[in-house]
Amino acid sequence: MNFSSLAHPVQRLDSRGVREGVDRGPAQWNGRLVFVKRLVSDQPEQRQRFRREGRVLSRLRHPLIVPLLDQGERELVFPMIAGETLRERIERGPLNVCAALQLMAGLLDALQYIHQQGVVHHDLKPENVMLVGGQLNARSVRLIDFGMAHDPLDPEDSNSVARMGTPQFMPPEQFQGRRGDPRSDLYAAGVLLWDALSGQIPHPDALGWLVGLRPERGPLPGPAALHPLLERCLSRDPAQRPQSALDLRVALDRLARSM
Ligand SMILES: Nc1ncnc2c1ncn2[C@@H]1O[C@H](COP(=O)(O)OP(=O)(O)OP(=O)(O)O)[C@@H](O)[C@H]1O
Ligand SMILES: [Mg+2]
Repeated sequence: MNFSSLAHPVQRLDSRGVREGVDRGPAQWNGRLVFVKRLVSDQPEQRQRFRREGRVLSRLRHPLIVPLLDQGERELVFPMIAGETLRERIERGPLNVCAALQLMAGLLDALQYIHQQGVVHHDLKPENVMLVGGQLNARSVRLIDFGMAHDPLDPEDSNSVARMGTPQFMPPEQFQGRRGDPRSDLYAAGVLLWDALSGQIPHPDALGWLVGLRPERGPLPGPAALHPLLERCLSRDPAQRPQSALDLRVALDRLARSM
């Protein structure tokens, strides 16, 4: 099937199914294998999320962010990443500390870049991180899925998207509808690191924690030297967290050198 709104036609090869009004899968485009997301829904929220992803990605350029190759009214075309998601990797077993810190170094580089552009991802989780070739090092990390991102240049970025995100990885302020604070991504980065080291999430009842009723938290994973930093990332108050992706990266690098 061809789509005329793209610079080059897309030839779909397969579908990995429809989720949230978006069909995705591999395709042939301009002589290469690509990964295409295609909007199949007319539901306003799903259309808005799809358009937001296209708009924000069209102005981001970073080696660890999967770029947009082309976009049409209902298609987003990406390079095909041969590899797996971080979620698939964690499902085979928790990461050792060295691998987890490598992963964080790459992720925090990507976050530092988007935050400099004023963009906040707002949906950082292992499902939205890919590992090129299944490798686990700082250069093989790829941040994907900007459908929930906050972009200060986006005229449609409004309160209508309040409370979007994944409760297990969502900081309390995001749950309350506050968008655009880069420290929200650092909370999610802390949950992701916790998950990578243990295969568990910190708050078993994530919604209970978000509404302030169920503070129970599982045991801190990884070496004791990492625990104060993990606790800071997971602070309810953003002012108690590392204040930037660079701050967190420097603190983790220092820790890696001391181990
Ligand atoms: N460029 C790519 N190359 C290969 N696979 C990809 C690529 N982009 C995404 N995927 C795969 O498709 C899945 C969904 O992608 P993404 O998270 O961007 O879309 P989504 O519509 O938000 O889906 P979901 O609701 O499942 O998060 C990813 O978890 C990954 O397995
Ligand atoms: Mg996703």
